[in-house]
Amino acid sequence: MSNTESKKLELPSQVSNITVCVGDIEAGLLTHGSAHHFQPTQEALHVSLTMTRKGLDGYSSGALHPIFSQNLPEGFNRRFIAEKLARYAKVDDMYLLALQGDQGIGALSYQSDICLPELEPVALDDILSYSSASPLFPQLLEKYYLRNSLAGVQPKVSVPHSEVTTERTVEQRDIIVKTFDAEFPLLTVNEFVCMEAARWCGLEPPKTYLSKNLEHYVVERFDSTDAGVRLGYEDFTTLMKKPNDPDAKYSGSYEALLQATLIYTRSQIEVEKLYSYLVFNCLIGNGDAHLKNFALQYTANMNDIFLSPPFDITHTLIYDTIDNKMALKLANGKAFPDTATLLRLAEGKGYRIRNAREIIEQLADGIMEYLKQSNEVQLLQGLRESIESSVAQVTAKSMGITKLRRDRRKKYE
Ligand SMILES: Nc1ncnc2c1ncn2[C@@H]1O[C@H](COP(=O)(O)OP(=O)(O)OP(=O)(O)O)[C@@H](O)[C@H]1O
Ligand SMILES: [Mg+2]
Repeated sequence: MSNTESKKLELPSQVSNITVCVGDIEAGLLTHGSAHHFQPTQEALHVSLTMTRKGLDGYSSGALHPIFSQNLPEGFNRRFIAEKLARYAKVDDMYLLALQGDQGIGALSYQSDICLPELEPVALDDILSYSSASPLFPQLLEKYYLRNSLAGVQPKVSVPHSEVTTERTVEQRDIIVKTFDAEFPLLTVNEFVCMEAARWCGLEPPKTYLSKNLEHYVVERFDSTDAGVRLGYEDFTTLMKKPNDPDAKYSGSYEALLQATLIYTRSQIEVEKLYSYLVFNCLIGNGDAHLKNFALQYTANMNDIFLSPPFDITHTLIYDTIDNKMALKLANGKAFPDTATLLRLAEGKGYRIRNAREIIEQLADGIMEYLKQSNEVQLLQGLRESIESSVAQVTAKSMGITKLRRDRRKKYE
């Protein structure tokens, strides 16, 4: 960014005060001095399921509180913003948070000295049918990086909604556009196939699209209702009070994830939903189903708390640079489970998934059926066979084939 550009945008050199709002309503003040301090300014609304004390006592924390840091960009996106602004500003967590404004995932918005102009939308169809020789993703990044308020390691941008005019006017939701780098060729195809398999199995993921040139995977944002009301969003690093460091999302177990869901939602239905997601991830061979890839959502008054739709599902076993373990522990280990282990997972403290065997069988059949009729699965060589063998490994009754999986290094290390 040039000096004049940064002046034109009136970007401050640092941010130490942010007014935090739930939707449009002020909830408190976040400051950064010797520590990060969140001072609620009203008692009726809370900013996090983990910060619901009565009264107006503040919350001090050395590192930025998990509810605020959970959506800060990691990896590629964080480096991109930091490099762009390095000469003009101290791009720390507070700064990145302030940049989110009201575009962040979830119900919170952040007001500070940073005032960015309204973003112009790009029509979904233009992304899907893009065919010019110069790649589109760098252009999207250039346009939206200042508002790039998404966690996760892979390159991605959030693009605001636009009106798409066909025979009738259709309101397009905000979307997230992801691409891939050389390490994970056609990750776009991979994610599209896994998410569509989830849809075939009835897990109701958000709408997804694959661009014609295969360079972009697009997913609709699910953090507001059809009527446009923003929903609270907390991933399981926040809910389980983990620090926001890159390793924390890989610590913990799927048993603990189910327990936490039971505690926060008090709903057997939500626990069962999560159980289905976990079984699906195991069957499809996703070794990256870590704590930030599951979340709870809720209405502003926190009366209705529910599991988010499934997202960020890929068949990681096809990539040589990723190890063949799961992201979190199950039955004290990170090896992919067999059916017996999944059945034991269904019998937890305080919950029991009564139709676990049926769930496993239906999801396994659903994935196999989906693969048979999917055109997109053919686009990545070996994907279909690799997913089929993953399903077979989980459903085969300990036939000694689990040893086939070699140990490799963890994703993104
Ligand atoms: N459809 C969606 N609606 C709203 N928020 C979403 C959606 N998809 C992803 N997110 C948010 O964006 C973050 C990053 O997305 P995603 O997990 O797909 O990226 P990633 O870079 O592949 O992640 P990872 O580092 O786990 O591989 C998620 O943690 C979640 O907070
Ligand atoms: Mg993710």
